Amino acid sequence: MSFAPFSIKVPGKAILFGEHAVVYGQAAIAMPVQRFLTLNFTPRSDAVEQPVLVASDWDLRLDLAAPAAGTETLVKALEAGFGQFPQLSRAVHMELHSEIPRSAGLGSSAALAVALVRGLSKIAGQKDSIEQNVNQAMKIEKIFHGNPSGIDHSVIAFAQPIKFSREQGLGLDVKLANSLEFVVAVVGSHGGTAARVGALAARRERWPVMFQPLMQQIGQIAEQGLQAMQDGDLEQIGALMDINQGLLNALGLSSPDLERAVAVAREAGALGAKLSGAGGGGAMIALCQDKAQEVQQALEALGFVVFRSFVAAQ
Ligand code: PMV
Repeated sequence: MSFAPFSIKVPGKAILFGEHAVVYGQAAIAMPVQRFLTLNFTPRSDAVEQPVLVASDWDLRLDLAAPAAGTETLVKALEAGFGQFPQLSRAVHMELHSEIPRSAGLGSSAALAVALVRGLSKIAGQKDSIEQNVNQAMKIEKIFHGNPSGIDHSVIAFAQPIKFSREQGLGLDVKLANSLEFVVAVVGSHGGTAARVGALAARRERWPVMFQPLMQQIGQIAEQGLQAMQDGDLEQIGALMDINQGLLNALGLSSPDLERAVAVAREAGALGAKLSGAGGGGAMIALCQDKAQEVQQALEALGFVVFRSFVAAQ
């Protein structure tokens, strides 16, 4: 079987409100960021019936015909992708280019999952809907993260702001009165979402009476945050981000670098700032509007990798 080479491009994501609490059924708000992952698909030239994934940005080369030690999770993830298209030849060569750093809370694994199923679906000649891609990508995210809420690959597949809850599902009706301008700082690797989610689960088991209300409050912040987005109340969005950060810190999910980045962003004029994603490192997002340049420079001076991202009003 052969096919003409093609590329799939998907954005990264940031969580504006509600990470971690979303795993326990609370609502969360996520948005795409202007950092992209591109997966180029070509037929494998040597006709070996196994896929190859080359990701030089992540320092990675995986040939399923001879997988190197240490690539077991990625092998299982690719199997979970190809396993959903059993009619396909597996002789597919994939070249991945990513502006999304790994283990940084910006959705790198979810972006790979969505791009993979979208590409395989195209090779198979299927016209799968975005909802079908979300379900297909979930099988891969489960390999990467164990117990993912589903928010990451949902926002990436739809490439628009979403409200997400395990109980109520996906809300695509997130209308923004104002566009939102963010500065994103990557303070380092967070060491893996599964580890952070697992560590929180252990702390929650130890202090259930304390942790349950914190989770509920985070869910309420997400609901109020959505309202503030719809009202175009930027100060309220910023204030809610700050409160969300305080609660994430209370849950043990911040880090000295994240706290430093948050403080510097606020000091430089951000309306609000918080960690985004699994925490313990990874990404910090700051709502900036007219102070974006000052915030970016202040964060760069700390040595962090920084970029700007915006969400357009609808
Ligand atoms: O994998 P990350 O760092 O992009 O964060 C995922 C968000 C969590 O709420 C921590 C986990 C989940 O599955 O929702």
